[in-house]
Amino acid sequence: MKSVTNEAIIQLKDIDVTFHTKGQTVNAVKNVSLTVNRGDIYGVVGYSGAGKSTLVRVINRLQRPTAGTVSVNGQAILNLRPKELRAARTKIGMIFQHFNLMASRTIADNVDYPLKGGSLSRAERKDKVDHLLDLVGLTDKASDYPAQLSGGQKQRVAIARALANDPEILISDEATSALDPKTTSSILELLKRLNQELGLTVVLITHEMEAVKEICNKVAVMDEGAIIERGSLVDIFSQPKQPLTRDFINTATQIDQALVKIYKQADKLDLGDTQQLVQLQYVGDQTDSPLITELYKRYGVVSSILYGNVEILQDTPLGNLIVVMSGEPDKLTAAWDYCQEQGVRITHLKSKNSEVA
Ligand SMILES: Nc1ncnc2c1ncn2[C@@H]1O[C@H](COP(=O)(O)OP(=O)(O)OP(=O)(O)O)[C@@H](O)[C@H]1O
Ligand SMILES: [Mg+2]
Repeated sequence: MKSVTNEAIIQLKDIDVTFHTKGQTVNAVKNVSLTVNRGDIYGVVGYSGAGKSTLVRVINRLQRPTAGTVSVNGQAILNLRPKELRAARTKIGMIFQHFNLMASRTIADNVDYPLKGGSLSRAERKDKVDHLLDLVGLTDKASDYPAQLSGGQKQRVAIARALANDPEILISDEATSALDPKTTSSILELLKRLNQELGLTVVLITHEMEAVKEICNKVAVMDEGAIIERGSLVDIFSQPKQPLTRDFINTATQIDQALVKIYKQADKLDLGDTQQLVQLQYVGDQTDSPLITELYKRYGVVSSILYGNVEILQDTPLGNLIVVMSGEPDKLTAAWDYCQEQGVRITHLKSKNSEVA
């Protein structure tokens, strides 16, 4: 299994992209710096219009930035001559939401297309196409036409085509946005496998945090042309700082729904004077039961679990519990301190007479 490296493969520095259309100025990308390391699956998430596509188009100079520098594989992309740029672009594959396949050509011909005019013989090209179709699991569709394929299969063809020239980087711009959840998962799994087997670096543009959660090791959140937060997947999910990041994360976990249900019954919760509703969040190997046992053994604090969930992100467990803790005020304070010492994030949600947080 190829692992993530510390070697920068894409470096965007101080990128601005400004559009002037019909007397209007749009600052689509504002002062963005971004480093992607070889082997990363780097998620870029943001709502529509945030500037995600514009930013990634800068990587292969489909979009020239108004300001800033772009380095890919150590090459200063903005200084390349047309021929050099064409060569550099073959090492950066791209896939899109709408697949962009050629309807009048077979699946094999679609995949073969980027190889035309290259150095391979006809027989070598055929081998290559066979290999690529095998890689994406579509060997039996070689002679079919795009219209005969499902959306997920079409995206697999687009992936095979994007890999034809052995790129080191694959940019996926909303490649799963038109697919149902199950098909989305299978495409994401394929990207993950290509990342591990080929060492492919992936930049995954999406508005779905769920997709990021499934395969990315790093994530940047974009809003109005700027990156407002970035970090490792686990850090972003366990300690989001920006409200927008939290919004995105909430769409990818069940906690919000659980809280809504719990709050609906909040009146029935009938918390006593010595009780409080809290959320406990922890990262890593510790599991909930020892923590709750310790709180009881040490402080006599009883915790009853209303909701519990552990997600595995990048092999790291991320736990979330919503509990009612019961104990005398000084014991509760000690229990809070203990949680924090243990690296467990504890958030007060409700006490007897307080409004919900
Ligand atoms: N060629 C262009 N000319 C003028 N404005 C543009 C151009 N391309 C993008 N924009 C504007 O730049 C901003 C960012 O657009 P961009 O397509 O990068 O966003 P996005 O995050 O990819 O959105 P989506 O999720 O809808 O794809 C938008 O306001 C858009 O209208
Ligand atoms: Mg876009």
